[in-house]
Amino acid sequence: KTKIIIDTDPGVDDALAIAFAVLHPNLELLGLTTVFGNVSVEQSTVNAGYLLDLLKAKHVPVAKGEGVPSVQKPHSFPDFVHGKNGFGDIAVNYPADFKPVDMSAADFIIKTIHEHPNEVVLVPIGPLTNIALALQKDPTIAHKVKEVVIMGGAAHEKGNVSPGAEANIWNDPHAAQVVFEAPWKVVMVGLDVTWKTIMPDEPMARIAEKSPVVGGFLKEICKFYANFYRTVGGFDGFSLHDPATVMYVTNPELFETEQGQIEVVQSGAGAGKTFFAPKGEVYAEDYWSKRDNAFVCLGVNKSGVLALLEDVLS
Ligand code: BDR
Ligand code: CA
Repeated sequence: KTKIIIDTDPGVDDALAIAFAVLHPNLELLGLTTVFGNVSVEQSTVNAGYLLDLLKAKHVPVAKGEGVPSVQKPHSFPDFVHGKNGFGDIAVNYPADFKPVDMSAADFIIKTIHEHPNEVVLVPIGPLTNIALALQKDPTIAHKVKEVVIMGGAAHEKGNVSPGAEANIWNDPHAAQVVFEAPWKVVMVGLDVTWKTIMPDEPMARIAEKSPVVGGFLKEICKFYANFYRTVGGFDGFSLHDPATVMYVTNPELFETEQGQIEVVQSGAGAGKTFFAPKGEVYAEDYWSKRDNAFVCLGVNKSGVLALLEDVLS
């Protein structure tokens, strides 16, 4: 089994990603670490607790992380995408006995990576604040992690919060730069592939029929999210940003990657944009061609992703 930690801001598509990770037979979820992003960190933490309860995985620890970006002022929460509660404003009964562990997300990440050297895949599907903080507290984790598979960014595609930026990177561009610069292998699952992984209604309905409790809940929360994608984005369904990212861990053959360097625009109108320089390309500015530790997903097998999600969630 592949050991993973998911750093998350649930969030509708985060909920799908967490369900996929818990239900997948080849993944061992070592913990969820929470961060602000789609909702406040308080809300994302209780949402993580709710999901683990729903998925009968209460043994999985939750470590609460950062509530604001590392440097810049916070943006407002996108309640028009994920609802005020992060679950499409579906009322939920939060488990009374849920408690996050007595350790910050960054400390939990550091401790867990040291407990399982070269085995842990870190999967951040929210802003990268906790990950950058963990690196700053203990840079040696960069040499002990197996790989870091990030939902965020856009190499060639347009952004989703500004013409250039994807939401997770835009929420903390300074942290993102720290994470892309560290000497570890980073896989970027960004809008280049997640704009292409659009889930229509039919598979969600089948999942809910086969798995009324978990699938039924996921189908309900997806309605709000799908409505946003349909009305604002003009898509025939909703984007599987976060679940596609976890799927890279189990099924990398569903994706095509290109190796190179990512640099994140830190502020101004382009804040959060991820510029990509493929390996071997030579530029005039001397900060380019210094690293090639990022593997950027540029192609995806959409029907393979949809089938895998339906299979695991059913
Ligand atoms: C990312 O931002 C959030 O809205 C989603 O949960 C996903 O992680 C997509 O840009
Ligand atoms: Ca997310």
